[in-house]
Amino acid sequence: MTSVVDQTLTGTAEVLRSLRGIWDEEAVDELDHALQSAARAIEDGADDELVLAAALHDLGHSPLFDDHAYTHHDMAARTWLTPRFGERVGWLAGAHVAAKRYLAATQPDYCDGLSGTSVVSLQAQGGAGVDADFVDHPWWVDAVRLRRYDDGAKDPAAQGATIEDVLAIAERVIRQQENR
Ligand SMILES: [Fe+2]
Repeated sequence: MTSVVDQTLTGTAEVLRSLRGIWDEEAVDELDHALQSAARAIEDGADDELVLAAALHDLGHSPLFDDHAYTHHDMAARTWLTPRFGERVGWLAGAHVAAKRYLAATQPDYCDGLSGTSVVSLQAQGGAGVDADFVDHPWWVDAVRLRRYDDGAKDPAAQGATIEDVLAIAERVIRQQENR
């Protein structure tokens, strides 16, 4: 019989693989973007939950989900991740749009480094702004870290993690949840 852990890991692998050939950005497809986001997080010494949230923050762009998930992809990530990997993974992935709006409002040169796609989507996401719910949240600093990994994960020549790396981290996060 398949365990809940196995089902979650199988589902996570399906979501990641479904991002191959999905082009939201111009330079990398969504799978490379996910795997590079994870790699940037690992290089930064991020904990497993933050690495996993970085890897899966754009899962709403997967063709496995509907148009509503695509349009509200931050909330789609939170909704999908929270029951599987806990509140923190879900919140961190779901906060990557709020973190972009925060950085755009508070870091003068932030928008200069954004991809063209990200500049356009920022307007649709409400533009630069500091959300009180965001900066009052205990995990907001980690959400800003995730955003930096996200923004740094659009280089076609950059090394990414592997799907197997992400699944190993996902399994550790599930085991940590079980031990709480
Ligand atoms: Fe992203």
